[in-house]
Amino acid sequence: MSAVTDLDAIVLGAGAAGMMCAATAGQLGKRILLVDHADAPGKKILISGGGRCNFTNIHTAADRYLSTNPHFAKSALGRYTAQDFLALVEDYGIAWHEKTLGQLFCDGPARQVVDMLVEECAKGSVQWALGQPVSGIAHADGRYRVTIGAVEHVAPALILATGGPSIPKMGATGFAYDVARQFGLSVVQPRPALVPFTLGDDEALFRSLSGVATEVEVRWQKTRFREAALFTHRGLSGPAMLQISSYWQHRTSIGVDFLPDAQDDWLLAEKRARPRVALRRVLGQHLPERLAEALLGRLEAEGELGNLSDKALRGVQARLADWPFSPDGTEGFAKAEVTAGGIATAGLSSRTMEAAKTPGLYAIGEAVDVTGWLGGYNFQWAWASGRAAGQAV
Ligand code: FDA
Repeated sequence: MSAVTDLDAIVLGAGAAGMMCAATAGQLGKRILLVDHADAPGKKILISGGGRCNFTNIHTAADRYLSTNPHFAKSALGRYTAQDFLALVEDYGIAWHEKTLGQLFCDGPARQVVDMLVEECAKGSVQWALGQPVSGIAHADGRYRVTIGAVEHVAPALILATGGPSIPKMGATGFAYDVARQFGLSVVQPRPALVPFTLGDDEALFRSLSGVATEVEVRWQKTRFREAALFTHRGLSGPAMLQISSYWQHRTSIGVDFLPDAQDDWLLAEKRARPRVALRRVLGQHLPERLAEALLGRLEAEGELGNLSDKALRGVQARLADWPFSPDGTEGFAKAEVTAGGIATAGLSSRTMEAAKTPGLYAIGEAVDVTGWLGGYNFQWAWASGRAAGQAV
């Protein structure tokens, strides 16, 4: 077997974090090899944001990330901000727009972001090894040895940037966890996040609403999100549900406020103003009609408002403001936009992403136990953690 030994670092995974890391280190004069088993880099970037890449969020802050250590992300996010990435995007003349809630998207195709990162890597003379599996990783005499085909690549630093196992059909794997464990790092149980819920037979009624969308406030314990919810033929999706799914735990219920803008006692006010109007009609005026029908089917109140007691109407208001759903699960890694959990932050430096007990080993991006909200937060973590490691190797 031949060996390549003139490297400063090997980056495993040419996704968002890996490319940012390789480009940063390369431009600082380091000799970097960027490895991916896929034949092209940045495949998740290409399909992200519906093909327009929601590349960052201007409201990025550590409290918008889930992690066993909620403080871990602060250092990297503070040193490479959404504005920093935006400045890079603008340097490349990539047109962008803010969609909603601080989410920045490309006006054109997401490929522009991949091309920009490839160009940034070229500026750092990054070498590539694409389209071949890594068949072995070893560490001896302070050097990491990565075998690809018939070549052993040797470097004093190894960066794990192979992401998490969400969307395996795109080549996503739990490889980073295996390597991390090989070197004594622990892994927080990975779980699908930003993922649609499935509803069981007792809530099958709602599956028949497939395609209906409405703005809600969804709650799980103290966490709440106000965004659109979408009924699907398997359960619940849409941004609100994806957001809360990252927090949800099995065998618990979520609460949905179907009328988050309604005033207190709004139905009583309607009763005073329009006593001859049917409850069905009033709900149909505030909610998508099919949804109003389904909810009414579960409420013990029907008929004209004037014939319903204030107590009954208060009961309806309360149900609509906190409708309980008990998902029987999620659509799993196959449909999860990200993976929560991952390489435990306890073993890593929050400044450099280097493993405390294994010098030269780094972990960045989604592989680490840091998971952002929907809306550009996950890419911002990939850029920031990639930058931190790239400056440190
Ligand atoms: P990433 O997954 O990007 O890269 C990992 C790389 O490692 C891949 O190139 C893979 O081929 C490679 N790899 C995996 N296993 C390997 C192995 N065994 N050997 C060698 N290479 C291996 N986020 C956001 O902020 N805004 C958005 O708009 C979206 N949209 C979106 C849409 C969809 C459909 C998905 C699935 C995800 C998103 N995300 C998102 C999430 C975002 O894509 C994700 O958080 C980042 O890509 C994570 O970056 P990483 O570099 O850590 O992993």
